[in-house]
Amino acid sequence: MRKFTEYIGSQFGNPHGFVGMICCFIMNVINQAMYKNTVTLINIDRGDKFLDIGYGNGYLLQRIYSKTEADLYGIDISADMMKQALKRNKKAAKHGQLFLQIGNCCDLPYEDNMFSAVSSVNTVYFWSDTVKGLTEINRVLKPGSSFYNVVYTKEYLDTLSYTKKGFKKFGPEQLMDLGRKVGFEKISVKNIVKGKSFVVIYTKYS
Ligand SMILES: C[S@@+](CC[C@H](N)C(=O)[O-])C[C@H]1O[C@@H](n2cnc3c(N)ncnc32)[C@H](O)[C@@H]1O
Repeated sequence: MRKFTEYIGSQFGNPHGFVGMICCFIMNVINQAMYKNTVTLINIDRGDKFLDIGYGNGYLLQRIYSKTEADLYGIDISADMMKQALKRNKKAAKHGQLFLQIGNCCDLPYEDNMFSAVSSVNTVYFWSDTVKGLTEINRVLKPGSSFYNVVYTKEYLDTLSYTKKGFKKFGPEQLMDLGRKVGFEKISVKNIVKGKSFVVIYTKYS
């Protein structure tokens, strides 16, 4: 049983194959409040560049495109997720506005000051180096723009059997401290579901 829960946990960190596809579908269903808050908070327009870190099956990218028609960029370590996200975001692709890559958020293949907004929903647990990831995101954001880091609380994750291994769990204060360390100018926290989920908004100096 422990092996099975560890396997499911590893699928959340790097979804692949049929099980990975199902796990992502489940995430899309249970994380609606997270996506909804992210889409509401992100205020960008057509012509802006938006980056989603760990885009999974591309569900959030699709919702952001419906609202903004911004150029969609994404980076994810899973080749299978790239296939899923490409399928899901055909409309943006058709208009030449979809730029997905396989890669690691700790080494972003983008120019400095490129993005009007960056998001990550439930991926920070899996980054090999949180400081490096945040440093890279700060580098690629335009001055005055924000990174929306959407997470479940440590307390909530501790109640789930599959998060025992392979998940780094953070509280809001810890994520704020890490953001200050890498030089974000303004950092705030908004609860999504009190005690369960929240978003840390990191804004680059303007
Ligand atoms: C729990 S899933 C969340 C997927 C998507 N953000 C969502 O909410 O539907 C975590 C995603 O982050 C990706 N991921 C994990 N570590 C990563 C890293 N270091 N850089 C980029 N993506 C990563 C995984 O492949 C997976 O697609």
